Amino acid sequence: MSRAEPGGRPRVFVARRIPAEGLDAVTAACATDVWEDELPPPRAELLRLIAGCDGVLTLLTDRVDDEFLDAAGPGLRVVSNYAVGFDNVDVVACTRRGIPIGNTPGVLTETTADLAWALLMASARRVAEGDRYVRAGRWRTWGPQLLLGGDVHGSTLGIVGFGRIGQAMARRAAGFGMTVLYWDRSAAGSDVERDLDATYADFDELLARSDLVTLHVALNDETRHLIDAAALARMKPSAVLVNTSRGPVVDQAALANALASGTIAAAGLDVTDPEPIPMDDPLLRLDNCLVVPHIASASHATRGKMAKMAAANLLAGLHGERLPNPVNPEVYER
Ligand code: DGY
Repeated sequence: MSRAEPGGRPRVFVARRIPAEGLDAVTAACATDVWEDELPPPRAELLRLIAGCDGVLTLLTDRVDDEFLDAAGPGLRVVSNYAVGFDNVDVVACTRRGIPIGNTPGVLTETTADLAWALLMASARRVAEGDRYVRAGRWRTWGPQLLLGGDVHGSTLGIVGFGRIGQAMARRAAGFGMTVLYWDRSAAGSDVERDLDATYADFDELLARSDLVTLHVALNDETRHLIDAAALARMKPSAVLVNTSRGPVVDQAALANALASGTIAAAGLDVTDPEPIPMDDPLLRLDNCLVVPHIASASHATRGKMAKMAAANLLAGLHGERLPNPVNPEVYER
């Protein structure tokens, strides 16, 4: 833990060491405490360290709620979340207190879609399983039936949530000659559909027709367990599910049953519920489930851009300016 001396400059707490592209601007302008551990600050420690801060730079592992805001105290002017997702933040509580929240949209779209695509390819073609097979010394010859999977090219991709990242998936699908179906709360409009060669389908139809289903919705009350046992039962037995959104969008116990019983063929997960996934979770015993540790935005370039954006949001809030990327713009309408 590095503790800076407040010297008339705004006091901020940065809840993990983010890339220098953003952190340097923060430390240059503010009396900055940076949490240096790899693991998030324990709750009690976090609440203690934010007391009296003018701004806090949080990560998706830090819960920002009334307790957090009370602990920070009345001087808190801004919360900058180092993520595009903000389900860790009680937006209503922040808005009620007039505190703007920043996030990092846009810069991680393509990087996240790249990882979703990697999971899709790897799950359909059993890449991780093949690697384990080789390392276990089981590769004895070329086998006509060895580790058969499903084709990605020419198949039907179902995109659940057609925002920036969902649309980036549709663009990738074009290169693979795929049929693209999407579902969202509302249709994207004919221009977008034409440009991306994507067709709106209702949720059940998308599940029934898709060979690969990829999730790109925000986590909220409507999307929690959107993929439950009933949804999984509607999918093809050969289908692959990919989740790079948030773990709780999928009912994980139902997914484990579906994968174990052959209701669907495979899953590739960047996110789990909880995170990290407990080592005794049934999913980790299944060869047809690939899990990586929430790394969809984890490229050097993208994490640097996220840091820059998070710093810009923090500094704008401290200067009393509108955040470049506010989650709750309604805070400026009061
Ligand atoms: C986000 O930004 O919401 C991702 O989950 C982490 O980059």
